[in-house]
Amino acid sequence: MSKQPAAPVVDGPMQQTFQPLLMLSHLTPVAEGSQRIIYVHPTDPTRLIKVLKPIADTKRRAKLATFTERHFPSLRTRWTRKEYGEYLRMMLHIRPTDIPPITHMYGFVQTDVGLGCISENVTDGGLGQTLHATKDNLSATDLALFNDTIARLYRFGIRAGDMTARNFVFGHRDYAGQQGPRECVLVDGFGDIHAIPVRSINDWCNALGLDDSCKRLAAKTGLRWDAKQRQFSLN
Ligand SMILES: Nc1ncnc2c1ncn2[C@@H]1O[C@H](COP(=O)(O)OP(=O)(O)OP(=O)(O)O)[C@@H](O)[C@H]1O
Ligand SMILES: [Mg+2]
Repeated sequence: MSKQPAAPVVDGPMQQTFQPLLMLSHLTPVAEGSQRIIYVHPTDPTRLIKVLKPIADTKRRAKLATFTERHFPSLRTRWTRKEYGEYLRMMLHIRPTDIPPITHMYGFVQTDVGLGCISENVTDGGLGQTLHATKDNLSATDLALFNDTIARLYRFGIRAGDMTARNFVFGHRDYAGQQGPRECVLVDGFGDIHAIPVRSINDWCNALGLDDSCKRLAAKTGLRWDAKQRQFSLN
């Protein structure tokens, strides 16, 4: 009788070398912020991958922020945790027919340049333009889209702690393989990142926080903020 080969014996923990799930290092990033480098997903152009930069490469950061992040590394990932928390809170709260004013988030993927955060891509030919890029020649149509997003941030009680002009993008999202209508989307800066999270107390406190953020955004963009109507207009 022929002898069966013995089954391999697993002795101790499985020895496996790290293999990233996605390779990005050969790609040219499409954008970068002060904290993250942005790549288009190599196999799905409707998605972006956002990878946290090494501390040494972070620009436009206050010296104090860099110092504290270096000594308290959890502060660097706090943003991501707050952002995800807010996305989750919104999705569990809005109706299926509501259009979120912020980008959908699709989890994380381990890449060869670091942990990647998968987010939907707001496109307009290439990457959509930001409010920062268009603010000096903002069309009436885009102003209306921007105001519609502002109204939904209030209506859905979105905690948005960093409403800068670079974080609003004009373009199209993908809806089940179809290009959606043109809209303005807050792609970053949501989540209550303040040391004392006043905005998280309730929607009323959050609305006061949004009022303050809109006032500051108006000063930065040259737009006029009507605090009563909670709408922007051209100066
Ligand atoms: N979902 C998106 N769709 C289209 N463009 C995007 C999207 N997310 C980011 N971008 C582009 O990439 C830039 C940087 O992205 P993001 O704001 O997420 O990076 P960050 O480093 O977290 O930013 P910050 O400097 O505000 O901390 C944005 O200003 C925008 O131009
Ligand atoms: Mg940003």
